[in-house]
Amino acid sequence: MPEPETRDQAGGSREPLAVALSGVTKRFGEVVAVDDITLEIGENRFYALLGPSGCGKTTTLRMIGGFEDPDSGSIRLHGEDVTGLKPYQRPVNTVFQSYALFPHLNIFENVAFGLRRKKVPSVEVTQRVREMLDLVQLVGMEKRKPGQLSGGQRQRVALARALINHPRVLLLDEPLGALDLKLRKEMQIELKRIQNEVGITFVHVTHDQEEAMTMADTIAVMNEGRIERLGGPTEIYEDPRSAFVAGFLGASNLMEGRIEGSGVALEDGSAISLPADRLAGYDAQVHIGVRPEKMSLTAPETVPAGVNSIGATVVDVSFIGVSTHYLLRTSWGADLVVVVQNLDDERHAAGSSVAATWQSQHTFVVS
Ligand SMILES: Nc1ncnc2c1ncn2[C@@H]1O[C@H](COP(=O)(O)OP(=O)(O)O)[C@@H](O)[C@H]1O
Ligand SMILES: [Mg+2]
Repeated sequence: MPEPETRDQAGGSREPLAVALSGVTKRFGEVVAVDDITLEIGENRFYALLGPSGCGKTTTLRMIGGFEDPDSGSIRLHGEDVTGLKPYQRPVNTVFQSYALFPHLNIFENVAFGLRRKKVPSVEVTQRVREMLDLVQLVGMEKRKPGQLSGGQRQRVALARALINHPRVLLLDEPLGALDLKLRKEMQIELKRIQNEVGITFVHVTHDQEEAMTMADTIAVMNEGRIERLGGPTEIYEDPRSAFVAGFLGASNLMEGRIEGSGVALEDGSAISLPADRLAGYDAQVHIGVRPEKMSLTAPETVPAGVNSIGATVVDVSFIGVSTHYLLRTSWGADLVVVVQNLDDERHAAGSSVAATWQSQHTFVVS
């Protein structure tokens, strides 16, 4: 027996790999849909491929599933090179956004379909379909046709049908895209529970950053066929490292500055401190970023010691209910957005001079 394929983790232990892509490229004519991607996904992971429409998420997923062949590079599943194998020869299954249920078959037979095709004995089919319907909480719906179910229930059937073959990896391409917001939120929690229960790797494609953050333990942010940032949800939100990733994961205030000593000087000379490792690899000019909710407002004469601070004028104030959004303008004409929780009555009126303050660890640097 060959050793199972593993990868080094931060802690020094080795994690068995479910999926490994090495130098994978896919072109459609002139379009480079996937551009030299290398990635490793551990076993029992909830891994999200996140990015805007057209960045190559679906193509990457289809290559893992065997629906597209890469032009170059290799794909391994649990250490076995599957490049060139047909979809049904791979230990994976896919859930598509459209669900692709058979409208003329009832729910039981939709879920049983894969087992019937493999000529699994009827007693075992009944037992395994029950288990699956229990897992996705559809017991009692066996006799209904897909047309008699809600969108969320159809989604659960698609999941049950994909999981009944015991794939070692489940691929999901925008599986919640057709659901309305409330249902989508419920299914996010539900999918996470199911992944936890079945204990296999889910590779989840989405363009919705909140969805990826809610469910995934690891997120690969894709941009123009490449992986631009890889990490846990908190890690990539707090330190996105590029303007693209910062913007894709939420709002941020980006400001130009130059490196001075161990910090950054902004255009008005304000000295900004930040974690030392964030400046590694940069010289001279940089852009720093701060999330709007990480900033606080005070009167300019009451800035506490030990925080970063910029003087600005309040341009606009919007009361949102849970928070107040301030639009500020700095002395050099840059706009800043600050989101303040409505904990007390302190308001800063339009036209007033304020200081926007934040802690040094909330400063990131983008390229
Ligand atoms: N079958 C195809 N033929 C031609 N171009 C394609 C095909 N599939 C995808 N593309 C192109 O490849 C790029 C990536 O597409 P896709 O992987 O579907 O992105 P995403 O899923 O992130 O929206 C896009 O420019 C898309 O138009
Ligand atoms: Mg897609």
